[in-house]
This record gives sequence, C-alpha cells and structure tokens, in this order.
Amino acid sequence: MPLILDSSSESSVDAEPDIQEERRRLYHESDVVIVGAGVLGSALAVTLANQGRSVILLEKSLKEPDRIVGELLQPGGVQALTKLGLRHTLDDIDAIPVTGYTVIYYDEQVPIPYPAIIASGTQQEPDNSEKVKTPEGRSFHHGRFVSKLRAAAMAHPNITIFETEVTSIIDCVSEQPTQVLGVECLTRKTQKDCFFGSLTIVCDGYASKFRKSYIHHTPKVKSKFWGMELIDCPLPTPQHGTVVLGDNSPVLLYQIGTHETRVLVDVPEGLATTSVANGGVKGHLQNVVLPSLPAKVQPSFQAALEKGSLRSMPNSFLPPTTNKTAGLAILGDALNMRHPLTGGGMTVALSDVVLISELLSPENVPDLYNTDLVLKQMKSFHWRRKNLTSIVNILAQALYSLFAADEWQLKYLQKGCFRYFQLGGQCVDVPVGLLGGLIAQPFVLFYHFFSVALFSIWILVWENGLLMFPVSIVQAVLVFGKACEVIFPYIFAELRS
Ligand SMILES: Cc1cc2nc3c(=O)[nH]c(=O)nc-3n(C[C@H](O)[C@H](O)[C@H](O)COP(=O)(O)OP(=O)(O)OC[C@H]3O[C@@H](n4cnc5c(N)ncnc54)[C@H](O)[C@@H]3O)c2cc1C
Ligand SMILES: *[C@@H]1O[C@H](CO)[C@@H](O)[C@H](O)[C@H]1NC(C)=O
Repeated sequence: MPLILDSSSESSVDAEPDIQEERRRLYHESDVVIVGAGVLGSALAVTLANQGRSVILLEKSLKEPDRIVGELLQPGGVQALTKLGLRHTLDDIDAIPVTGYTVIYYDEQVPIPYPAIIASGTQQEPDNSEKVKTPEGRSFHHGRFVSKLRAAAMAHPNITIFETEVTSIIDCVSEQPTQVLGVECLTRKTQKDCFFGSLTIVCDGYASKFRKSYIHHTPKVKSKFWGMELIDCPLPTPQHGTVVLGDNSPVLLYQIGTHETRVLVDVPEGLATTSVANGGVKGHLQNVVLPSLPAKVQPSFQAALEKGSLRSMPNSFLPPTTNKTAGLAILGDALNMRHPLTGGGMTVALSDVVLISELLSPENVPDLYNTDLVLKQMKSFHWRRKNLTSIVNILAQALYSLFAADEWQLKYLQKGCFRYFQLGGQCVDVPVGLLGGLIAQPFVLFYHFFSVALFSIWILVWENGLLMFPVSIVQAVLVFGKACEVIFPYIFAELRS
C-alpha cells in the first residue's frame, strides 16, 4: 500500500463522498488525478474538490520544499488566491507584505509602488472609498507556502494525497486518437502503483518529465539565477522588491521573512567573468556583482558569500500550447514558463486555476469523461488565459532583454525605461500594474513598451545634440528596430495555438 494522507475518515460527510473516498483509497480511482502537489497542483486539487469532484493528488515528496523559487507573489496572485478561498495559506508563514518595487540604476533609484487606482478597479465591485486600498503582494519562504497549500488539500474530504513518484502516463492507444487513462507510479522507490481518473492533470513543474511526449516546444534557457539568503539586510525601500541595474545582468532582492532576504543574481550563460580562472560564479559574485550593489546591502551579501550556500536555478522560457490529448491537461510550469525576473510564475499558476476551474466546473462539464467537451474547454482556456498570462509572459521576457542589456541599443532602451519610470504617474502605475498581474489588457503592455522605445530615442537624440542629428537618425532607427526584435517574437509566440 502506498503512503496515504487523508483526514476524511474522521469527517462526517454524507454517504456519497465516503464511497468516493473508498474508491480513491482502495481502487485508486477518481474524477481527477493530479500529478505534482506544487503551487498549481495543490491549489487546483482544493478548488476542484470544492466543486464536488473526487480528486487524487500525487506528490513525490511531501517534505516541506526547500527551494529558491516562487517566493514573491504579486498582488494579482494574492487576488487569485482569495478568489479560490485560499487566502489563509499566506497567514502564519512570516510572509512580508510587498507594496511595490524599487529600481536602482547606477547611483539613482526610483520607487514604483503598486497603484491604488487599480485596486478599486473592477466595475462589478463598486467600492466605497474607505475600501480603496493599495494592492499588496506577499513574499515568503516558498516551502512554507506550499506546505500550507498542501495542508489545505490534506484536510479536504474530497481529496486523497499519495506520496509517490509518477513514472509514466497510461494511455489507451487502441482508441484513436489516444486517450489518457491515468498514471503509473513508484511508491517508496519499490512499489508499483496505478491511478485512474477521467481527467489526468500533469503539473510536475519546470523539469516536467511528461511534457515532451505531448508538447513540441522545449524550454529555452539563456541564464541562471544564483541565489543566497541574506540575514538582516537593509533594503532601500521597506516592503519593496529591489531590482539593481547597471553594467551587469539584473540582481533581485526581496525580504522573505523577518530576518531573511533573498538575493537572486542573473548570470547569463558563457559569461567570461564566471570562468574557472576568474573563480567561477563565486568569483563573479565577489568581484563583479558585490561592488555594484548598494553599499548597505554589501555586508550581508559578503557574509552570505563567505557562508557559501550558493544555489542556482535555470531561467526558462516556454511558450504556451493548447492541450490536445484526450483525458489529459498539462498546466503550470510544465505548460508555460517565462523569465522569473518579474516574479510572475505563481500568479500565472493561480490565475490559471481560477479560469480552468470555471471552465471545467460541473455546470459546464457535468462529466469529465466527456473528453470532447473537455478538449473544447481546454481550447477556450488556451485563448482566455492570454488576457493576463500573455502580459506576464511578454513583459518578463522583454524586460529581461532590457535589464540584461548587452548591446548599445539595449542600453539605450534600458536607460529609457528607467527615465520613463522617473516620469511618474501613468508611466509608473501602468507598468507596475501590468507586472503585478493587476491589468488584463495586453494592448496596454504594447502601448507602454513602445512608449518606452520612443522615449529612449528621444533621450538618444537629446544626448547626441544638434550637430550629431544625422547620426542620431540612424541610431534611432537601430534602437527602434531592436525594440521590435525584443518584443515581436514573444508576441508571435502568444499568437500560436
Ligand atoms: C529562480 C526562480 C525564481 C522564481 N521566483 C518566483 C517568484 O518570486 N514569484 C513567482 O510567482 N514565481 C517565481 N518563479 C516561478 C515559480 O516558481 C513557478 O512558476 C511555480 O512554482 C510553478 O508551479 P507548479 O505547480 O507548476 O510547479 P512546482 O511548484 O515546481 O510544483 C511541481 C511539483 O510536482 C512534483 N513532482 C515533480 N515530478 C513529479 C513526479 N514524477 N511525481 C510526483 N510529483 C512530482 C514536485 O515535487 C513539485 O512539488 C521562479 C522560478 C525560478 C526558476
Ligand atoms: C465533496 O464532494 C461532494 C460531492 O461528492 C460535495 O457535495 C461536497 O460539498 C464536497 N465537500 C466539500 C468540503 O467541498
């Protein structure tokens, strides 16, 4: 028998859920089989179970995760969590409120707080003025948040969690087209098990073992984030994520607990200053990154370097695709990834849970075994999620190109972007609203991106002066061309089915 974690035996639910519980526990059979109890899997399990579905949740390790990912949840993600009735999972984990960002550009800095106007936002929820609040994100230890999400799933009478590693997907090839029936697992590395559901949902994260059989894109990795935990590090603005720009690739800093601050240093592949002769990545952090950080951050950065607990994660890009296999859905990082610079992954995951649970609700899909209807809903999911996720995806990739500028045209765009933020008003509120997952209108991103491009060109012309005007015209064309080169591939990636 696999290790079963379920509290339902003590709960007093009516007869039907009891029978369902038995079917899950004894026969490994349910409406939905979810692979991976990470951010997406755990939240989705609870949401579908709340709708009365019988859910089996499979996770290879139920120990509290210890990772350097998923530590800052944008306000849009907090809103999605609230819609799912899971807002309480952010309580009692020593989470820090996040009220915006501060961008440091060489010796200058500009605070970009989340805008209050958008908090009062939607027309469906008319607000009285006292309720107008600045939206807030939260930053925390990833593992603590995931453990709370898993605890919510464990406490649910309609979910049974099994600690087991999924090894393969069971599909029925005799049926045309192929239909997924469930999964095969290995429990405690020895015991083979199978689980069956009308719908199998794969959300096994960035290194997904199963996506390659169903998705023809492969993740692209151009850089890694190297992370350390700083102790009692003073940041320029309390409760703000900090982005440090300059001659190097960007550095992110945010508080994840009362005394702990995460630093993530972007290190592009094949950087000369990370060569063995230069002391590897540690040498790069010591000799190149440390001197570029704000003076008050340097002592705790130095201390963490000496302690030597460096960890890294690949920064991947994977454009989304439509799920087309009957009986299967792939979600979360397994389906779609963007550079973590803007901290958008969990916001995408939780917003996707809101949307998919609506599309697959018992009102819309009474029986999940109706694969034609499920596939139709999956197609609709692919396009409807774009209102929000295409913004998060494109913004993350485009901003990364600017912030990691390694060509002169990109340097101008980077400077233009910073000067644009310095203008304040809409030039701050809207971009940070997009980043925070608070605005679901892709065209707004397009508009502001090209405003930044034109503003960069204006700066270029101004700095060159009148005498250089003919040169400026050529340079302006090249900068504009680069801006198009930065954004259009990601726009096209979103337009594919
Ligand atoms: C360096 C870095 C920093 C990031 N920072 C942020 C941030 O600040 N904010 C943000 O919103 N996003 C951030 N992200 C992105 C975020 O971490 C992901 O988008 C998010 O965790 C995706 O959730 P998921 O549920 O798809 O995957 P995960 O949370 O990774 O969950 C996958 C789960 O599946 C389990 N699993 C895997 N294989 C199997 C198997 N074979 N059988 C059973 N179980 C299995 C795993 O154990 C895991 O529990 C960051 C990413 C990176 C790389
Ligand atoms: C569990 O599912 C049943 C239907 O099988 C539903 O009536 C009940 O509300 C669900 N329980 C919870 C706590 O959501």
